[in-house]
Amino acid sequence: MSDAAERSMTLPNDQDASGRSFDHEELEQLRMVLDSGTLTCTKGSRVRELEQSFAERLGVDRCRAAASGTAALHAAVAAIDPAPGDEIVTTPITDMGAITPILYQSAIPVFADVDPRTYNVTAATIEPKLTRRTKAVMVTHLFGNPCEMDEILELCRGRGIPVIEDCAQAYGASYRGRPVGTLGDIGCFSLQQGKHITAGEGGLVVSQSEHYTRRIRLFIDKAWGYGDPNPDHYFLALNYRMTELVGAVALAQLGKLDGNVKQRVDMADRLTAALQNVPGVDAPEVAHHAVNSYWRYALHVDPAVIRGGAVALGDLLRERGVFCAPRYIQKPAFECQVLRDQVTFGNSRFPFVGPQREGEPEIRYDRADTPGTIEALERVVVLPWNERYTEEHVDYVASVIAAAAQRLAIPAAAGEGRS
Ligand SMILES: Cc1ncc(COP(=O)(O)O)c(C=O)c1O
Repeated sequence: MSDAAERSMTLPNDQDASGRSFDHEELEQLRMVLDSGTLTCTKGSRVRELEQSFAERLGVDRCRAAASGTAALHAAVAAIDPAPGDEIVTTPITDMGAITPILYQSAIPVFADVDPRTYNVTAATIEPKLTRRTKAVMVTHLFGNPCEMDEILELCRGRGIPVIEDCAQAYGASYRGRPVGTLGDIGCFSLQQGKHITAGEGGLVVSQSEHYTRRIRLFIDKAWGYGDPNPDHYFLALNYRMTELVGAVALAQLGKLDGNVKQRVDMADRLTAALQNVPGVDAPEVAHHAVNSYWRYALHVDPAVIRGGAVALGDLLRERGVFCAPRYIQKPAFECQVLRDQVTFGNSRFPFVGPQREGEPEIRYDRADTPGTIEALERVVVLPWNERYTEEHVDYVASVIAAAAQRLAIPAAAGEGRS
C-alpha cells in the first residue's frame, strides 16, 4: 500500500474543543448569569428562556429543562405514573439512562426487538410485547434516525397507550415534516457532552399535554406546588433542576443547532455518496419521509462480504485514526448486569417479583426473542460524527473505509455483491 493510502488524519472529537462549537456567545450568557448572582433556575431567567426558545423551535407550547437526559426521561415516566409492576415497552439498543428511570418508577422495562437495518423498534416488534400491564411505550430515534412513527402511534393510540420519544440523539430530525419529540405524548432530549448541542449535562422535555407538563415540572422540583394557593409536596419526586449556568450555555448552543445539524447532515450525505460503490458496507437506511440528523453515522457491514464483519472493519478503521464503535453497545441492554440479575433495591427483585406481579407471567429476558437486535449489533459500526467535520475529514474517512473493505473483501462474495 502507498504512503498516501496509509496516512492518518486527526478527526474532530466531540469530547474536546476540536469537535464542539463554543465561543463568545456562551461566555456572554455565562457572564450574564454570574453578574446577576442568581444561579438557581427557580429565580433566574436563563433556564426559563431556554425552555421557551426550545418549545418555540419545536412548535409546542411547553418545555421543561432538567439536570440530564436521564432526568428528563425519568420525569416523563413519572408523569405517566405507572403503578408498581406495570410495564413500559422500549428498545434493547439504547443508553441505560433510558431504562433505569423505568425501574426507579417501579415499572418493568419490556424489550421490543429492533429492525436489523434501521436499528429502531417498529409497530410490528412492539405489538407482541403489549399486555394489559403496558403503561407506556418509549421509542428511541437511534443515531438521529427517526422511528417509523405513524404505525407506532396508530398502534399505541388504538390502545390508549402514551408514547415517550427519546430524542437524546435526534435533535433536528423530523418525520413527515414534523420534528421528532412532538409526534408522541412526551419528547426527551439530552445536553450531555457528545450530543448535537451540549452544556456538559442537561435535559429538555416537551409535551403538548398540560397534565403531563405539570407533572414533569413538579417531578423536576420535588413536587412542590410553586405558585399554587396551598402548595405542598404532592408526590414522590427529586431535585432534577437545571442550573442557570447550564441553562446559559444551552441557550447559546441552541442558537447554533440549525447550523450544527446542517453540517452533520451535509457531511453524512457526502459520505453516503462516497460509499455507494463499496461492496459490503452500506449507509444508514433513512425513510424517504424522514430526516436523519446524524448524531452518529451508523455503517452497516455485511459479514458475507467483509471478512470478520463489523469488528474486523472497525479494527482497521481505528488503526487509521477513525475511532469508531463496532457493535455499538456490545450487547442488548437487557444483558447488562442489573437487568440480567434483576437485583434492584437492596437484595430485592422489585418490581420484577412481588405481590404487584401476582398472577402475571414472569419477566424473562432472552436474546432469542430479539434476533433483529443481535443482527443489528453484529453488523453495525458506529462512526464518530460532529459539526466540525469538513469535506476533507469525510473524504479521509471514506477512503479509509474503502481501503479497509477492499483489504477484507471475501473475493467470491464481493464479486456477487457487485453483480
Ligand atoms: C438514547 C439515549 N437516551 C438517554 C440518554 C441519557 O442521557 P444523559 O446522558 O444526558 O443522562 C442518552 C445519552 O446520553 C442516549 O443516547
